[in-house]
Parts: sequence; structure tokens; C-alpha cells
Amino acid sequence: MDKQVKDLLAQAQAAARRAYAPYSDFQVGAALLLADGSVSLGCNVENASYGATVCAERVAVFAACAAGKIGPEQPPQMMAVTALPCALCLQVLAEFALPELPIWVLGQAVGEPRRFTLQELLPHSFKL
Ligand code: THU
Repeated sequence: MDKQVKDLLAQAQAAARRAYAPYSDFQVGAALLLADGSVSLGCNVENASYGATVCAERVAVFAACAAGKIGPEQPPQMMAVTALPCALCLQVLAEFALPELPIWVLGQAVGEPRRFTLQELLPHSFKL
């Protein structure tokens, strides 16, 4: 595993420690390497109204959008995340990322860090 992947995974783990997850006690962190080489971080932010919870991956994507650093012409390069991304987050990633986006996952569901692509995890994204 190269240094860039290791660093991104470490950043995802650090972001997970900042999760606000008092209801599930399940902390998730995501690190998204952007087109300009910077990294957008996300953690899950839960809410007493459970449906208002936002996943770590979407926080990372939305923060990148608010920073003007992601878009159809600025696809992200790579993601690292501490849990397997849910389908909602994959759909949000598919809005901006190429199908080949590498998604490195580490966490109890996969054991050792494992590389997937967006296309592998979401082979048929919704399109208008
Ligand atoms: N969660 C994420 O942050 N990312 C995912 O892809 C799946 C689930 C969060 C949402 C909630 O705060 C907790 O994990 C348990 O579902």
C-alpha cells in the first residue's frame, strides 16, 4: 500500500474520532482526496431526530462542494473510509466521481484495508 493511501486512511481514522455518534455509538470517518490534491474530511453527525443524521462520506463530499473543490470538472481522486459506504453515500459520490474512483475501506466489515472502486460498490447508480 503506498504512502498516499496510508496517509488518507490515517486521516479517515482521525476524522472518525471526531464523529458525533451518541445514538449508535458507531463512529465513521472519511477522507476524500480532491482534484487539487487537498483532502476533505467527514465524520458522521447524528441527531436526536435520527433521520437528520448525515454519514461521514456525505459530510466529506458536501464540505468539498462548499469549498468549491469538487464538481463534474473536478472529480475526486480517491476516498478512504472507516466503514463500507452506504448506498446513499455512494449515490452522492457518483454525482461527482468517475466510476473508477478508488475507495479504500478499513473497518470491522472488511478487516485489513481493502481497495474497491465506486463502480464495484455501486454498479448501477441512479441517473436522470
Ligand atoms: N454511517 C456513516 O457515517 N457512513 C455510512 O456509509 C454508513 C453509516 C453512520 C450513520 C450513523 O451515524 C451510524 O453510521 C450508524 O448507522
